[in-house]
Amino acid sequence: MSTEPMNSDGLHPDAPRQKSPIKWMALIMGILVVLTILTMWDKEKISIKASPKIPALSAQGQHGRDIINAKCSECHGVDGTGGSRKGPPILHSQYRREIFPDYQFKRAMFEGKREKNWRFGAMPPVEGLSEADADAVIAFVREIQDFNGIE
Ligand code: HEC
Repeated sequence: MSTEPMNSDGLHPDAPRQKSPIKWMALIMGILVVLTILTMWDKEKISIKASPKIPALSAQGQHGRDIINAKCSECHGVDGTGGSRKGPPILHSQYRREIFPDYQFKRAMFEGKREKNWRFGAMPPVEGLSEADADAVIAFVREIQDFNGIE
């Protein structure tokens, strides 16, 4: 039996000290938590999805829906419901009649829009849209808003 002195933790003075893994685990956990929070925050900022119910549409509304899915969905999502990283949903209550009248819709389509209400960057003017196309887009949006009680 050894008579040499022991350390307070009961180990021989020459014994290799056990490194506590707890410190490292805590550090790694901390980093993971911060990363998770950052990703969630980031997602909330740059991908916003609306889930309106889509009613039976008028012929004009259906034409508007086709235009949106051809020319706007890259940024505003399928049917304008968002979920992309390049633009907000246009079926958002922020674009309801009361605060976002038709002429503002047209202005955005024909003149584009600088980055203002969101953090997706600017919207370029949409090429190749006729006045009738723009009216149809607005008709689609209003039909959805009405059906979903977004006034
Ligand atoms: C290249 C991407 C892109 C395309 C394509 C695009 N938009 Fe946009 N749009 C945006 C972004 C980004 C914003 C948000 C600007 C902001 O920060 O207010 C926006 C905003 C809007 C707004 C709100 C404007 C305002 O004054 O607040 C409307 C309405 C709109 N878009 C309609 C459309 C329609 C309709 C189409 C298709 C005919 C379309 N957009 C095509 C990117 C796009």
